[in-house]
Amino acid sequence: MKIERNKSLKKHNTFGINVKAAEFIKINSEKELTETLSIHKERNIFILSGGSNMLLTQNLEALVLHIAIKGITTSSQPDSSVLVSANAGENWHDFVQFCIDNDFGGLENLSLIPGYVGSAPIQNIGAYGVELKDSFISCEAIHVISGAKKHFTKEECNFGYRNSIFKNELKGNYIITKVTFRLTTKDHVLNTSYGAIENALKEKNITSPTIKDISEAVIAIRKSKLPDPKEIGNSGSFFKNPVITSKNFAELQKLHPDIPFYQVDKNNTKIPAGWLIEQSGFKGKRWGDAGVHAKQALVLVNYDNASGQELLELSKRIQKTVKEKFGIILETEVNII
Ligand code: EPU
Repeated sequence: MKIERNKSLKKHNTFGINVKAAEFIKINSEKELTETLSIHKERNIFILSGGSNMLLTQNLEALVLHIAIKGITTSSQPDSSVLVSANAGENWHDFVQFCIDNDFGGLENLSLIPGYVGSAPIQNIGAYGVELKDSFISCEAIHVISGAKKHFTKEECNFGYRNSIFKNELKGNYIITKVTFRLTTKDHVLNTSYGAIENALKEKNITSPTIKDISEAVIAIRKSKLPDPKEIGNSGSFFKNPVITSKNFAELQKLHPDIPFYQVDKNNTKIPAGWLIEQSGFKGKRWGDAGVHAKQALVLVNYDNASGQELLELSKRIQKTVKEKFGIILETEVNII
């Protein structure tokens, strides 16, 4: 396997940050992965897949392993479902399109999310009323130190809102190599509850949508709000939507009667961070090449040559202002490296 030294990672992170990796290896198979791990036992290893959920703020002294293991397999089940396994290096959106082309239902609402299959479980990707965990069955992963393979069930992954065991107790310990989903082959269970999807279908006079119709609606909505990382560097939502107690929310609502919210359960209320950031005056603003997207304030953007540090400083200014104005702490959704 070829080791590239002093390699620019600009093309390997969707923010387009130009930092360098001391050493970089592209991994094409599980065998290459276990061999590399055993040869470089002493090295500090950094795992990079699609680079779509990270802000790189410094050069990486580590050995960067770019997981590019490809391949999709399917296994029909007797109950109108199919088990679909995708290797970690498959592009997420291409994988979703593969499922739609084969009329496998379940992932259509997750169309056009940037990144690779292997990192999707780490943050339990979600959009438009659906999360990865809804159709996830299991994943396989290699232990970074021992090289041993482990099979993780859904329960073991401990999924939450943009969260899993791989972001917590097992952070940095495992490299996900394969993910398996159970998808429907008929009588698809469609999720059209999200207002923007309903509107998009209505506009096209679609009353009995197919999974392809939903996917196309989602693609249109995402394109209208979210910047395409190929054109403007970004990592999707930079912060999580904060959840506060419903008691605190009631106080906040008195001061800001038009604050949008989702009731999580009896005691907890989720507030769109995009609204908090917009109300704090950041939407559409730009400092050098670092900015806040004009159509969705939750997305920070790199117009060209912003450094990771500049974006990090901007994110801290946003956190400080939102804290002062609303008393709410915004947690980052992207990993700051
Ligand atoms: N809003 C504003 N101003 C803004 C943006 C949003 O006021 O600039 C308010 C509006 O009231 C809007 C509400 O926030 O109705 C919700 O906005 P949106 O539908 O765009 O969703 P979101 O809560 O901001 C979340 C996910 C997105 C996902 C969408 C759709 C998180 C952190 N983000 O965003 O996920 O696509 O819902 O389901 O949960 C991502 O994780 O990278 C991502 C893009």
